[in-house]
Amino acid sequence: MASLEGLIEAWDGEEVVVSFDESAGAWIFICIHSTALGPAGGGTRLKVYGSPAEGLADGMRLAGGMTMKMAAAGIPFGGAKAVLAVRELPDEAARRPLFLRYADTIASLQGTFWTGPDMNTSSSDMDTIAERCSYVFSRSEELGGSGNPGPFTARGVYHGIRASVERIFGSAELDGRSVLVQGVGSVGAPLAGLLAADGATLLITDVDAERARTLADGLGAKAVPPEDAIATECDVYAPCAVGATLREETIPSLGARIVAGSANNQLAEAADAERLREAGVLYAPDYVINAGGVLYGFGREVLGWNAEQIEGALSGIGGSLTGIYEQADATGTTTLAAADELAAARLAQASA
Ligand code: PHE
Repeated sequence: MASLEGLIEAWDGEEVVVSFDESAGAWIFICIHSTALGPAGGGTRLKVYGSPAEGLADGMRLAGGMTMKMAAAGIPFGGAKAVLAVRELPDEAARRPLFLRYADTIASLQGTFWTGPDMNTSSSDMDTIAERCSYVFSRSEELGGSGNPGPFTARGVYHGIRASVERIFGSAELDGRSVLVQGVGSVGAPLAGLLAADGATLLITDVDAERARTLADGLGAKAVPPEDAIATECDVYAPCAVGATLREETIPSLGARIVAGSANNQLAEAADAERLREAGVLYAPDYVINAGGVLYGFGREVLGWNAEQIEGALSGIGGSLTGIYEQADATGTTTLAAADELAAARLAQASA
């Protein structure tokens, strides 16, 4: 793993803001990748990493993905991500001082960076941030925010899965289609519920076996051990947890025809998109299919959308993917290249 300074020197983003919170033993990295389309927006990830540099590298990669996500979704925000790299996940008492300290850093950026929840952070953490500054989405609904975006990210992924299934099988009907949901947290769990309601044959896996089992029992799904996830035969593999599950070593054993899930950075490297294409797998570019959360947050908190407008934007994710699939076929490229082109065109338009 490169050093902190090596990572920062090599990065193609605009700015990294670093601080260390001594009382929590937490490194705080705010990675601002691009402000070309507007203030940089991105979630706050709280996670234990092997080293601070691993946390920074994760934040940088995720921030680049946010730039593409905002551009592809047509949201006038740039891309960023914040990582709070902790030695262990803080308990309730330790959480508040850490988030207040972090909020002061966000406040000092005066609106260059806006945040929202991500892995291991929630609306109540956003409420804490809001005590110090207003540059935050997804506060609790009781406090005037738009609440947990997870179910809306899930709904966007659901529409994306339908569009992908239609592309491969000629009908968007999920009845009888098998879908493996990997990771049943704030997005994977509501996604599993939507799929089950449509009659999909549901397979569920999670690093927390108990969590997988409980949800599977409730939905009439089958629980699968995490180590079997990639190779399990199914129509759709929906990664909804950590990234980089699709790599040179795992792609040959993939048991699904379609990859369509909510995780950020699903591919270890861009070349994996070509590997998937060669294997005959349809890949829904992660930053396109998982934009439901930011669309919801931005739509409700900035544009004042009603339920119908939100659902229109979320079902639009299916339409965007269909367009990307057609473009990829027409030009003989990967679906990722087609999505990148769409996002790049929006970014180029902004800088012109
Ligand atoms: N975790 C969200 C994502 O990756 C970040 C987010 C959600 C930001 C909602 C703002 C509002 O897209």
